[in-house]
Amino acid sequence: MSKYKTHILVCGGTGCRSSASDALLENLKIELEEKGLEKEVQVIMTGCFGFCEKGPIVKVMPDNTFYVQVKPEDAREIIKEHVIKGRKVERLLYTNPETEEHVTDSSKMGFYRKQIRVALRNCGFINPENIEEYIARDGYQAIGKVLTELTPKDTIEIIKKSGLQGRGGGGFSTGLKWEITSKSPGEEKYVVCNADEGDPGAFMDRSVLEGDPHSVLEAMAICGYCTGASKGLIYIRAEYPLAIERLQIAIKQAQEYGLLGNNIFGTNFNFDISMRYGAGAFVCGEETALIHSMEGNRGEPTVKPPFPSVSGYLKKPTTVNNVETFANICPIILKGADWFSSIGTEKAKGTKVFALAGKINNVGLIEVPMGTTLREVIFEIGGGIKDGKKFKAVQTGGPSGGCLTEKHLDTPIDYQNLIANGSMMGSGAMIVMDEDDCMVSMAKFFLDFTVDESCGKCAPCRIGTKRLNEILDKIIKGEGSVEDVDRLRYLGAVIKDTSLCGLGQSAPNPVLSNLDNFMPEFMAHVKDHKCPAGRCKSLMKYEVIPENCVGCTACARNCPVNAISGERKQTHFIDTKICIKCGACIERCKFNAIVIN
Ligand SMILES: Cc1cc2nc3c(=O)[nH]c(=O)nc-3n(C[C@H](O)[C@H](O)[C@H](O)COP(=O)(O)O)c2cc1C
Ligand code: SF4
Ligand code: SF4
Ligand code: SF4
Ligand code: FES
Repeated sequence: MSKYKTHILVCGGTGCRSSASDALLENLKIELEEKGLEKEVQVIMTGCFGFCEKGPIVKVMPDNTFYVQVKPEDAREIIKEHVIKGRKVERLLYTNPETEEHVTDSSKMGFYRKQIRVALRNCGFINPENIEEYIARDGYQAIGKVLTELTPKDTIEIIKKSGLQGRGGGGFSTGLKWEITSKSPGEEKYVVCNADEGDPGAFMDRSVLEGDPHSVLEAMAICGYCTGASKGLIYIRAEYPLAIERLQIAIKQAQEYGLLGNNIFGTNFNFDISMRYGAGAFVCGEETALIHSMEGNRGEPTVKPPFPSVSGYLKKPTTVNNVETFANICPIILKGADWFSSIGTEKAKGTKVFALAGKINNVGLIEVPMGTTLREVIFEIGGGIKDGKKFKAVQTGGPSGGCLTEKHLDTPIDYQNLIANGSMMGSGAMIVMDEDDCMVSMAKFFLDFTVDESCGKCAPCRIGTKRLNEILDKIIKGEGSVEDVDRLRYLGAVIKDTSLCGLGQSAPNPVLSNLDNFMPEFMAHVKDHKCPAGRCKSLMKYEVIPENCVGCTACARNCPVNAISGERKQTHFIDTKICIKCGACIERCKFNAIVIN
């Protein structure tokens, strides 16, 4: 039993910290000390609550009050009103956008209602820098159970039976992967946690590590026991400083508690973990490139087989798993394979964490059962499209995933369905687009990233993606032809078929899926030289509507390149050869006399 009557949980995730949640936490502590309440009320810094859009988040327990967008200066009112007088601070409560009513309990909020938190179970509940808080929520019980009650073979069977598939993108059976490593001969074996997370829209793995690092350490040790490895390595990009700091603290604490090191739980099992830092190359998330990078070699993929489970780090059998995959292990051991496989669909078990971003109202981190539809994710959990705009597409699977449209909204999300519809699960980033987005430009935007990140080892990816990008550029500039559109499709298919690793094999996906789903938009660019979304600058033409123009001269006075001519009180004229399409004239015209054609 906690000696404190009240707990105030303050989000210490990267998003909320960037909005001064650490200063808020300090202010809450100062206020409590000033009122002599520091022995009755405990302030705890936690990991991400998920609802980053409304951060910084503060939760008061035990009454489960959820405050949003809390500023450091709100600390005094929270202590004075909520803690001392027992009155909730209404202005800091979440307002339901539909009913305009305040919601105090997060479980009743649209954002959380359909979520099931397995991998994120402790994020937003515990102080990730305090091992005792993890232990208080069943932490290190799973490794205790495995070491004292189960053989490695039994444990692998449980993981296999649970149906857990790797959450790093490929969806390979985790139990099967562990079995292969366990059967690979070798005295020395390794467990590697892939925490590279190079997809720019993704922040799932970082949030797990920031909010619940011990869950990953414990699972890595279980994997070591199952596969016969005594060393674990976490490969994390150096640009995740908070996750690195919390992992370092967690590893040190677990070592001090004897939960990492020699003779864990008094058994003859030894396992320790160290960290390796990546320099931020997307391709280094690919497991063979990651291993080469850890070995001090150039971060380039190599052909598989051999798979890391047979010949990995230092050519020894190595299990590489993703952060989220590991975060699912302990609940499976403690609650059982049947419990886990009861969540999700026939083909995909458990939950999936997604990072919701783009033109969506509730940007944040969510965890939903496999089989949840895109409509539920975007409109119920995500709160719909920003500024009441129309939904156009959602990019799943990161920069090398594909765009899904209105017709896919009711498709249950699982590995197979997403691939069948021209996209993929990837690591779990979801970027939502609205009616104002041009799908030709979007395809180029994602391809720009893969062109930059290609390691250059094989020609189809190094040269092919560049050529693909040049064709898109031509189309966006209004210089493309129908044949160019055909070339995109042909070249994309060749790159997919012939590239050496997953980066090249999936890089054309945004182009190909947009061709499938938005062909009329491509045709408008190449046939009519028009961008229906009005985004492609080269295809825009600013024109004055003579009937509306009163000759006020505002546009001409504000045009930076003197492209507008006309006498006062006379109709004005835009010289499209001089115009640089900056948009200043439209903004200045109070008479709706300028249009973009
Ligand atoms: C270009 C590329 C980038 C990848 N980036 C990551 C990553 O950041 N994190 C990750 O876990 N897996 C990433 N993967 C997948 C890994 O190669 C590997 O399949 C995964 O780490 C295995 O773990 P899992 O079975 O738990 O999913 C990437 C693959 C490719 C082709
Ligand atoms: S497909 Fe691209 S990233 Fe992969 S090995 Fe070839 S060049 Fe490198
Ligand atoms: S600002 Fe509008 S109304 Fe005024 S001169 Fe320009 S186009 Fe005409
Ligand atoms: S868009 Fe910019 S450059 Fe073109 S006419 Fe208007 S103000 Fe001038
Ligand atoms: S970082 Fe605070 S809610 Fe996500």
